[in-house]
Amino acid sequence: MSKYYVATPIYYVNDSPHIGHAYTTTAADFIARFMRLDGKKVLFLTGTDEHGLKIQKAAQKAEMEPQAFTDLVSQRFRDLNRVMNFTEDDFIRTSAKRHKDYVSTIWQRLVDNGHIYLDKYAGWYAVRDEAFYAEDELVDGKAPTGAEVEWVEEPSYFFRLSNFQDKLLQLYEDQPDFILPKSRRNEVLSFVKAGLQDLSVSRTSFSWGIPVPGASGHVMYVWLDALFFYLSSLEDKEKSEFWPCDLHIVGKDILRFHAVYWPAFLMAAGIEVPHRVFAHGWWTNNGEKISKSLGNVINPLELVKEFGVDYIRYFMLREVPFGNDGNYSRTALVNRINAELANNIGNLMQRVTSFVHAHNNGIIPQCSTIQPEDRVLLEQAYSLIDKMRQEMETQGLNLAIGHVVELGNAANEYVSRNPFWELRKTDNARMQTVLYVLLETMRIIGIALQPIVPDSATKLLAQLEVKQSSFADASADKKLISGQQLVPPTPVFMRIQ
Ligand code: MSP
Repeated sequence: MSKYYVATPIYYVNDSPHIGHAYTTTAADFIARFMRLDGKKVLFLTGTDEHGLKIQKAAQKAEMEPQAFTDLVSQRFRDLNRVMNFTEDDFIRTSAKRHKDYVSTIWQRLVDNGHIYLDKYAGWYAVRDEAFYAEDELVDGKAPTGAEVEWVEEPSYFFRLSNFQDKLLQLYEDQPDFILPKSRRNEVLSFVKAGLQDLSVSRTSFSWGIPVPGASGHVMYVWLDALFFYLSSLEDKEKSEFWPCDLHIVGKDILRFHAVYWPAFLMAAGIEVPHRVFAHGWWTNNGEKISKSLGNVINPLELVKEFGVDYIRYFMLREVPFGNDGNYSRTALVNRINAELANNIGNLMQRVTSFVHAHNNGIIPQCSTIQPEDRVLLEQAYSLIDKMRQEMETQGLNLAIGHVVELGNAANEYVSRNPFWELRKTDNARMQTVLYVLLETMRIIGIALQPIVPDSATKLLAQLEVKQSSFADASADKKLISGQQLVPPTPVFMRIQ
């Protein structure tokens, strides 16, 4: 069985989770579920990033000890994971001992391998981004991200990032899909080609971090600490069957850390680099950047309360081409759900199953002579998973879902050409075949929807008397059995008013 390791970034616990956090994990959860259904042995990791000045300051503001504060906020992310129906295999906190111990050994290795030296840092730092910026990167006195910067001067250990320019460029060449989407890859390439500065990797002006071994007063730079979470919980670390990681899902804002620093740290420690880093875009709210100061933060818990978890998952995964920025608006959500889930798939399912109950005693109809157009629809259904798999290979999440929608469209068109309510009066055998073909198509749609809208898919399949199915079952071998009694139908995808 082949393995698949997918991870989200770990979330800063300075504040409660919002839609952006939920988005990154929803994408990873879709992928993890997809790979499991596709027969892979999956490891799906997420967690919280708990050290650094940003968290120390947030704790101070809340008048709490950093550990108690991070315990509290980290729990909110775990709670969100349950609400969102995420299937992470582990939840890693960087304040946990297993993590800190591992990062300390990594530090020592970097020192032993000659990649770390002591000097002094004098430059700009943005606490919000937990990032250092060069003078010429600033825009109107702020970080290019808009974050406030402060001048920092302190003794610091440095990582010899400048030694890795050629090795990184070689990596991007050897693994052309290491960074996706392509446009992002180009950005990273030009950044690295412009030359790399050594990176400050310890701080002395605050204490909430992993202590640098043998250097009192120094705590590690939070990004060095955080990035190694991808390894720290694996049983055999870099020797684990899951390493190298198959896919890092990250937001575009943290691509540089994952596509430049992370592989450089790994190479320096003598560890294999991951297969891919995919950078997704950012959500805006009705066209505006989401921020606390604008007061337009979208709370995923409230969205779930109003629309249900499956509709939120569906909207986030389907609305935006994965990799692009997206805009949240209520109208967009309602339109998307009503058009694709309620009208297209839900309505068809309801019509067919109700009809089968009203006019065929709720029994799966007989499939007699198959006509060419029946075959065309069934072939489209049986090739659905393959088409999705191809999109998923390059994280075309919205495109993969698009194939499910297309099959729903095709089934609806098939209904208009084969009105089963008319056939009932003229040709019962043909009516039975048409209904059978439609139910079988719905079975495949149900299987394909499992990683996207898990609860609804289970409900849909249960109405066809199908237990949870893997993708291997999405073929004619496991086709519905005529004569089987079905439970009375209830709507799977209700319209949003
Ligand atoms: N702690 C670091 C990651 C360390 S990984 C070793 C971090 N945390 S974060 O909480 O600020 O962001 C986590 C993820 O949420 C990122 O992938 C980021 O892109 C995503 N999002 C935060 N706001 C977002 C939007 N408005 N829209 C989409 N995703 C955004 O960075």
